[in-house]
Amino acid sequence: MSKPITILGFAGSLRKGSYNKALLRAAMKLTPKNTKLEVFDLEGIPPFNQDLEHRIPERVREFKARIKAADAILIATPEYNYSMPGVLKNAIDWASRPYGDNSFEGKPVALMSASVGLLGGARAQYHLRQSFVFLDMHPLNRPEVIVTFAPQKIDEKGNVTDEEIRKRIKQLLESLVDWAERLETK
Ligand SMILES: Cc1cc2nc3c(=O)[nH]c(=O)nc-3n(C[C@H](O)[C@H](O)[C@H](O)COP(=O)(O)O)c2cc1C
Repeated sequence: MSKPITILGFAGSLRKGSYNKALLRAAMKLTPKNTKLEVFDLEGIPPFNQDLEHRIPERVREFKARIKAADAILIATPEYNYSMPGVLKNAIDWASRPYGDNSFEGKPVALMSASVGLLGGARAQYHLRQSFVFLDMHPLNRPEVIVTFAPQKIDEKGNVTDEEIRKRIKQLLESLVDWAERLETK
């Protein structure tokens, strides 16, 4: 049997009722065999300040350690003003520093997004893919999980009620595990 895979997931929204956090919760119930999905909450990560990058805040230290320990990364994010939310970009900036200690280096990564609108956060996904180049990450291309009109597919309790979305999340996780096994970076 192949070795167990650990995926670290985080959401680009701090909101309690976040649709994107709901996608991660759904993913936790859909992981392939021999795979663990852990979720890290970006709450408590302060604004990036390069003066502090050699004495990083405890929450950032924890975030970097969890990323390094993971075989693959899963990001679920809304789109804010046609791009990724500041909290997500801020957390990524912290984890990529200091120079020479980019925690994301070589990690496979998959994306999901949900928005209340017509494009489901697609533009945030494409901006993230640009950042993955400089971060030297390996993004999974397919399947794409883009949840449009989220309130129709995720109920008030935060359950993903749309069967098609759950199926895509499952496929995404299977593909991510396969991708991580092919790359074997940890
Ligand atoms: C500051 C801000 C900017 C937003 N910009 C966009 C946008 O560009 N495109 C979009 O589809 N939705 C946009 N939205 C709506 C989000 O899709 C919606 O708030 C969504 O529920 C946020 O994700 P969450 O439920 O995970 O918090 C924006 C929301 C906020 C608060």
